[in-house]
Amino acid sequence: MTTSPVLPNAIEQLSGQIVSAVRTGLAARPKRLPSWLFYDEAGSRLFDQITELPEYYLTRVERRILAANAQQIVALAGEGERLRIAELGAGSAEKTRLLLRAAVQRQSTLVYEPVDVSLSALDEAQERIEREIPAVRVAPQLADYTHSLALEPTEPGERRLVLYIGSSIGNFEPDHAAQLLQGVRAGLKTGDALLLGVDLVKDVRVLLAAYDDAAGVTAAFNRNILVRLNRELGADFDLDAFAHQAVWNAAESRMEMHLVSHVPQRVRLAALDCDATFKADESIHTENSYKYTPGQAEDMLRTAGFAPVARWTDHRGWFAVCLGRAS
Ligand SMILES: C[S@@+](CC[C@H](N)C(=O)[O-])C[C@H]1O[C@@H](n2cnc3c(N)ncnc32)[C@H](O)[C@@H]1O
Repeated sequence: MTTSPVLPNAIEQLSGQIVSAVRTGLAARPKRLPSWLFYDEAGSRLFDQITELPEYYLTRVERRILAANAQQIVALAGEGERLRIAELGAGSAEKTRLLLRAAVQRQSTLVYEPVDVSLSALDEAQERIEREIPAVRVAPQLADYTHSLALEPTEPGERRLVLYIGSSIGNFEPDHAAQLLQGVRAGLKTGDALLLGVDLVKDVRVLLAAYDDAAGVTAAFNRNILVRLNRELGADFDLDAFAHQAVWNAAESRMEMHLVSHVPQRVRLAALDCDATFKADESIHTENSYKYTPGQAEDMLRTAGFAPVARWTDHRGWFAVCLGRAS
């Protein structure tokens, strides 16, 4: 396996962010933990299993959209110029390979810059892409893209296409999502492009099943955040004392994931030298996944300084992939 040439202080920086996110989140009322904490090595593997579950339509539907339109997407993004492709929260980059293959058909070599908080995901993606598509040079970056996103400058005559797919934008509250996209725009030149994958509002039964599958993989993924805190912060969370809960919040148009304490309990976090106390039925809110309409997705692009260029959806209108040009 290859080892990512990460910035020397990237791992240390992320550890600092974990400590501060956990301290703040468990002191908040209601308690919360940020969803990026899911993605240690085990969490990245569990997420890959989720993408193969029958209930988890998101990956399957987005993959179909990308497979059918990859050539057109890279052609529109490049507008006749060479492309360089970056990706926020790349994970295993499984769907991304469709776009990378389409890009190397129009230019002989390509630089691909995945950004992720999961070192194991970056390593595996790099190894697999370089083996399967040797024309692609992978330049990974271990970073939290909400804190530090420093992409290399593009060469003259080169366009950057930033991929932000997989409905990851849905993890952010609307104001934060707008700020995040504005930050991405600030790092781009006019004419560069952003491809945004957005999960759309649909039948609540479909949504609930996608976040609470029958095999219990999403429950294990949710609880893995506690496994991680036990290992990395010397905490003593009893996993059996917390239930996975997926809830549709209609007022906010979002799916939520929670870990609900069955009983009153006190948990020690040795590395933080503090305790967290829970009442019976008290929850830790671990994830939001906002569901949008296509019009709202394009408004988000416009607000952040991207002119919508094209939009692709599936026949049921469950998922949208929108291309915006930095204007
Ligand atoms: C839901 S997965 C999506 C993976 C892939 N893009 C897809 O569409 O299947 C989210 C990925 O983003 C990464 N991630 C989540 N929050 C992040 C952040 N703030 N900064 C960098 N990476 C992040 C996770 O490690 C994970 O690999």
